[in-house]
Amino acid sequence: MTETLTVLGLESSCDDTAAAVVRRTAEGPQVMSSVVWGQDELHADFGGVVPEIAARAHAERLDICVERALEQAGLALGEVDAIAVTAGPGLIGGVLSGVMCGKGLSVGSGKPLLGVNHLAGHALTPRMTDQVAYPYLMLLVSGGHCQFLAVYSEDHFKRLGGTIDDAPGEAFDKTAKLLGLGYPGGPLVEKEALRGDNARFKLPRPLLDRPGQDMSFSGLKTALRRARDLLVDDKGGLTRQDRADLCASFQMAVADTLGEKTRRACLVFQDVAKAQKPVLAVAGGVAANSVIRASLQQVADSTGFEFLAPPLKFCTDNAAMIAWAGLERFSKGFRDDLTLAARPRWPLDREAAPMLGSGKKGAKA
Ligand code: KG4
Ligand code: ZN
Repeated sequence: MTETLTVLGLESSCDDTAAAVVRRTAEGPQVMSSVVWGQDELHADFGGVVPEIAARAHAERLDICVERALEQAGLALGEVDAIAVTAGPGLIGGVLSGVMCGKGLSVGSGKPLLGVNHLAGHALTPRMTDQVAYPYLMLLVSGGHCQFLAVYSEDHFKRLGGTIDDAPGEAFDKTAKLLGLGYPGGPLVEKEALRGDNARFKLPRPLLDRPGQDMSFSGLKTALRRARDLLVDDKGGLTRQDRADLCASFQMAVADTLGEKTRRACLVFQDVAKAQKPVLAVAGGVAANSVIRASLQQVADSTGFEFLAPPLKFCTDNAAMIAWAGLERFSKGFRDDLTLAARPRWPLDREAAPMLGSGKKGAKA
């Protein structure tokens, strides 16, 4: 018999302040509420997340999000079984705000506290949304992360490769900034690309010539800048068509690179995990991109994997995934206490060698 458990989750590791209540009954998981208070407007002028601004906003907004999440779930704090909070990896000021808030709620209510790895939250989301069985393959691809994970349990992840520098979302954001499109860049680049020719600029497909599943996106960004500068030098500026063609060529390069590396990760995963019905799941904001999704779907079809993309609101940063990861840990007997530390870096796979570079938002990657 599955015990009914209800967990309040908090998330504040990047630029979304979030709180949620998730319950698991014999019938399965249920997201009772999920409140996300984004900060795009606070960071838009800077073309990226400013850590100090983010931390202050989290500190001001967390308790409001918690109140709303409990209210929408129709519960009082005393009615949850545990409190789960992102304890890393992420921008340290924001993580600290969340951990302090979680500790305060735990002390005040007498409810157990669980520190959750933000990446585990993303990686376990397909279990909350689709009750996917272990093991499965996960591609985390967002503004801060890019890695392949074999997910064996709520506490056992094996990293099968990842970016050695920027995350793709970061590259999308920088491309948008270079082309004067705004922030966050991903959706704006995708929209521009609709009118563009994806074969006009020959941009690199980094690391495809090397074996393995590691990726690199910083060279692609530099190649895009060079292509733009050549046009500007030549004609004194960019036409709308130039901009659309640059976006389409860039997006295609990312989709091709992710597609091929994912194909390799699928083969490696099956080699080690030998799953009966292998599943390729994806999470992170970049998974919203339809060209990238199509590329991943094609890879899944050709390698015999089922492709699973949870609803976008649970793919991007949210607290339901943290509540769920906390719930899975709680049900296995894990507990934290007031010594819980906020960790800017916290690799999921404790045995994997640290990656060389980690990008500007590297603390999360
Ligand atoms: O998962 P997320 O909300 O936050 C973290 O980075 O953790 O992902 C945000 C990232 C941003 O870099 C954004 O530009 C990118 O995801 N993104 C996209 C699209 N929508 C969001 N990238 C490409 N195409 C999109 N449609
Ligand atoms: Zn995230």
